Amino acid sequence: MSAVHNKARTSSNPERAHTGTPIHEKVLKTLAELGVRSVGDIQQLFYELSQTLNDETNSLVIKGAQSEAERERMCKTFRNRWLGRKSGLIAQADENWLKAAGTDWRRDVGRFFNDLRALVEGKIAALPTEIRLHVGVGSAFADTSSPDLTLPGFRRTLGSVHPVTQVMREIEDIFLGLGFAIESGPEIESVYYNFDALNIPESHPARDDWDTIYVNPETLLRTHTSPVQIRAMEKHGAPLYIICPGKAYRHDNPDSTHATMFHQVEGLAVDTDITFADLKGTLDYFARKFFGDKIKTNFSPSFFPFTEPSGELAISCVFCGGKGCRVCKESGWVEVMGCGMVHPEVLRHGGIDPERYSGWAFGLGVERFAMMKYDINDIQLFQQSDIRFLEQF
Ligand code: FA5
Repeated sequence: MSAVHNKARTSSNPERAHTGTPIHEKVLKTLAELGVRSVGDIQQLFYELSQTLNDETNSLVIKGAQSEAERERMCKTFRNRWLGRKSGLIAQADENWLKAAGTDWRRDVGRFFNDLRALVEGKIAALPTEIRLHVGVGSAFADTSSPDLTLPGFRRTLGSVHPVTQVMREIEDIFLGLGFAIESGPEIESVYYNFDALNIPESHPARDDWDTIYVNPETLLRTHTSPVQIRAMEKHGAPLYIICPGKAYRHDNPDSTHATMFHQVEGLAVDTDITFADLKGTLDYFARKFFGDKIKTNFSPSFFPFTEPSGELAISCVFCGGKGCRVCKESGWVEVMGCGMVHPEVLRHGGIDPERYSGWAFGLGVERFAMMKYDINDIQLFQQSDIRFLEQF
């Protein structure tokens, strides 16, 4: 970055004697006449000029031109204003600021001056391509002398819904169709809801895996959406059928399948006589609805402190149809979520009597679902805001 841009913001001494005087008048005065007393004052003057340069180019770019001839005219006027041999702003700064600077300041003024001139030349070179030709109704309004309403209008580029949001909505729709409600909870969560109420006491090793950024000793960025289970039970009691989509944060090292911020959807059903068969049936239905009828599901035992028994749901690999490939590591199966029967202690923490009610829960990673659905091999792509990636969805 140039010295003009770099340092001017830190200048401690905006030009005192001429505050309010427009910069094009200031270049007509010598530094002494302007009451300059320090290098900071000089820097401030050049900074004002560079700001004016930016403002003027921006307004030309925003305005655009109605025709090639008009664009040429605009560029020429701009060039004369800044680089005109006698009355151009650069020539005047050269005359009144650089040449008239005393020996004490000449080196500094020279440095700022050269930076500014390079900036001006760069802007002038870029301007013809930056000023776009207006073709259409919008330009017709801008040029009131000859509006041509028959010309086609502007085509503005439209944004689209982020693939992760699309997948999240798709998951929501499936569960809404099953009668589940959508619940939400805070991303900045208390240690109690994130850990203790979910049967993860301070001494539990699962805390090490899930510890994230603590705001203070009692508050952290939630590591999963499971705390919403407790909040929803406290709020609504039983029976309860909810899902909670939202962000989660972990201290995982970023790689192609791990992000430090990612999205989960939590599911929770609490009612009388809920069994593992309900869990299996619902998740099997969900997986087929999301990935298509051809996929198979497989439940295997796992461990989560807040479910008992706990399981993992895997689906037959959508890429190889279960034959074995790079994605499924030749196993034919891809693990897609954690699940299990809600631990009686967790129901109790939520204010629900485990003697009367039982429940099942699951938690899935939305990015991983999106990766499988769209055959994306790097989770980081979701957060890089690269339009070439995003515009494909
Ligand atoms: C949990 O977070 C449990 N709370 C899920 C649960 C809920 C189990 C209810 C039982 C009952 P796990 O740590 O496995 O579990 O994360 C769930 C999913 O989040 C994973 O399957 C994965 O798809 C996704 N996930 C986890 N860590 C990351 C990460 N760093 N980046 C992207 N996705 C992740």
